[in-house]
Amino acid sequence: MSVRRPYILLNYALSLDGKLSTEQRDPVRFTSRIDRGLMDEIRADADAVLIGAGTLRAEDPPVRIKAVRRRNERMRKDKSPHPVSVILSRSMRLPRTGRFWEDDQVERIIATTQQAKDEQVRPFRDLAEVVRAGQTTVDLHEFCRMLADRGIGRLLVEGGGEVNMAFWEAGLVDEVYMTLCPVVIGGRNAPTAADGRGFAIDRFRTLRLIESRRVGQELFLRYRAVRSKP
Ligand SMILES: NC(=O)c1ccc[n+]([C@@H]2O[C@H](COP(=O)([O-])OP(=O)(O)OC[C@H]3O[C@@H](n4cnc5c(N)ncnc54)[C@H](OP(=O)(O)O)[C@@H]3O)[C@@H](O)[C@H]2O)c1
Repeated sequence: MSVRRPYILLNYALSLDGKLSTEQRDPVRFTSRIDRGLMDEIRADADAVLIGAGTLRAEDPPVRIKAVRRRNERMRKDKSPHPVSVILSRSMRLPRTGRFWEDDQVERIIATTQQAKDEQVRPFRDLAEVVRAGQTTVDLHEFCRMLADRGIGRLLVEGGGEVNMAFWEAGLVDEVYMTLCPVVIGGRNAPTAADGRGFAIDRFRTLRLIESRRVGQELFLRYRAVRSKP
């Protein structure tokens, strides 16, 4: 039985030793200008972009389309200039100020659980729509169904490591864009492209390489999931 949900893509930049950032989750930038352009292009194709609360707290990323021509192109297709911005959080321990919240052309959703208390949700009422799905953790299948019902056909997941793994665990990854960068970060507890508990040997997810491109010192790789289900 096929369940209605968006097409789901992961996008991340990885150091040569497989890290997303430092152990301290410093807001480091180790990608090139070309990679940031590619990120803008991938975002511009998405209906919604999702990040974890950990990434919001660490980086405060402005999740929006930077290039005016890409925003115009979206509007020509009757889309909003920016994709919907989604944050995933159980705790609702989120900053209320910062670059993420600045652009009032961006529609925002906070996805949290049924356990989130009204007093935790209330401070965000003017900033975002708060959606509850699941009891102790956001049920990603239920939430993705909600997104599909709102017309979200393409969901771009931009990490970090815990969120990426949650999507792999749920069998909700169709495609991966990855940039391999010539830098070594190290650190046993630095976030990787998929953290959490990890898969047992007979449950590894597998993918097929569908594109590879070298630009300068970086390698842009694109994969399609072959086995993404538990
Ligand atoms: N290099 C790259 O491309 C890239 C991309 C993205 C991020 N990063 C880096 O990665 C680091 C962050 O990664 P991270 O693994 O620490 O954090 P993360 O994956 O961004 O966020 C983890 C948080 O997301 C929420 N969450 C995760 N799964 C959930 C679920 N199923 N239901 C409800 N909430 C859920 C929880 O928030 P609460 O704690 O609020 O409950 C959890 O603590 C940062 O350093 C960031 O800069 C790098």
